[in-house]
Amino acid sequence: MHHSNHRIGFKSKFGAIAALAGSAVGLGNIWKFPYVASTNGGGAFLLVYLFFTFAIGLPVMLAEFSIGRRAQQNILGTFRLLAPGTKWFLFGFLSIITASLILSFYGTVSGWTLEYIWLSMTDSLHGQSAEDFQTIFSSFISHPYKAVLWHIAFMVITGAIIMGGVQKGIERYSKWMMPILFIIIIALSINSLTLNESSKGLKFLFFPKFSELTGQGILAALGQSFFSLSIGMGILLTYASYIPKNNNLTHISLQVIIADTLVAILAGVAILPAVFSFHIDPQAGPSLVFLTLPQIFQELPAGQLWAVLFFILLTFAALTSAISLLEVPVSYLIEEKKLKRPWATLIATLLITFIGCFNTLSFGPLRDAQIFGMNLFDACDYLCSNILLPFGGVLVCIFAGWYLQKSTLYQEISNQESLKIRFFKLYVFILKYIAPVCILLILFHALGLI
Ligand code: TRP
Repeated sequence: MHHSNHRIGFKSKFGAIAALAGSAVGLGNIWKFPYVASTNGGGAFLLVYLFFTFAIGLPVMLAEFSIGRRAQQNILGTFRLLAPGTKWFLFGFLSIITASLILSFYGTVSGWTLEYIWLSMTDSLHGQSAEDFQTIFSSFISHPYKAVLWHIAFMVITGAIIMGGVQKGIERYSKWMMPILFIIIIALSINSLTLNESSKGLKFLFFPKFSELTGQGILAALGQSFFSLSIGMGILLTYASYIPKNNNLTHISLQVIIADTLVAILAGVAILPAVFSFHIDPQAGPSLVFLTLPQIFQELPAGQLWAVLFFILLTFAALTSAISLLEVPVSYLIEEKKLKRPWATLIATLLITFIGCFNTLSFGPLRDAQIFGMNLFDACDYLCSNILLPFGGVLVCIFAGWYLQKSTLYQEISNQESLKIRFFKLYVFILKYIAPVCILLILFHALGLI
């Protein structure tokens, strides 16, 4: 098998874990998890989420890691190498498109987080009423160009990191952003626990209300788990191709999954007790982070500091995920189109930012451009999260479980049989049967078939 030995991967194991956990921990954990969990039965949702994450997410992630590290190529080259003469390379193209589309709407919300760092640093969020926060938020996201400028700023930072390459860009920045992110979220959670009615918020998050967990909630748990872990579309293949050959893939995937789950739960602990202590409706949904939290921060001692810290946390989480998405098209352009990294980065970033601007504007000037009754942003999110990701997830399972030789998979997971692998049979069974069926259920549900 041919390997390009000149290819640079992650330098250290810690760097690899920081980068992979950086991809996983994102807006999905902090912006989405707390309200999805608390509106779908709290602890009941959490149990289902944990089950899916470890029973299905782990095998699928391990499959993506094994395929990626085996081939040590960009995603298109990966399928050309491992499935020569087949149509599997089309899946590579689909992944590149999906990664770019996800980034195009991810960049919109990430831009908002930058504006909110700015607003809290300049203390513009101080002394406002609930209506004021509503006005600040809605006039910002519908502004003709302000949100676009922040969106572009975010994409420029993302591009600048990717321009630095695997070691001097991705690894270097993930290695300090991720530890800071952990420190901030732990500090926010501890602070939140000291509030008067924190126990109510904790109960809301952890107490299992099985009657509120619907079939839809169960599917939401699986979808949320996949999005949060960055799996299901072969997008992580690219990062996995940079994992050093002597690292234990099972350990790395476990560590990434634990880090991701921990941040999601901590985000709930940081946000919900505060929401309850200030008698705010926790079902406020996605706007919780931009409307409710700023209001809460100003009631807290040293509120401005907490606000700045929180929005920095959100930006770091978004940034380390955004670079993992941008690296997919960039590594493709470098290795398949033989472009130099700076050019590849420039082209991919410009294109994605251009598409992204339409998503950003869909809350303002373009709000009337509707697809199936959704604005462009929501349509893009729906297409990626609910259709393309599960669709790709099934393909990953078929590729790793059915197409690839079991021995190839085993070699990669066991580091050429130097590690003892205990649950290989169970793992292959999940990959072949359980995971694809569960994922198909989400897909059919999303398409309105069940
Ligand atoms: N996992 C990230 C989050 O929770 C988002 C993300 C980054 C992603 N890369 C991905 C989602 C690849 C799906 C596929 O916010």
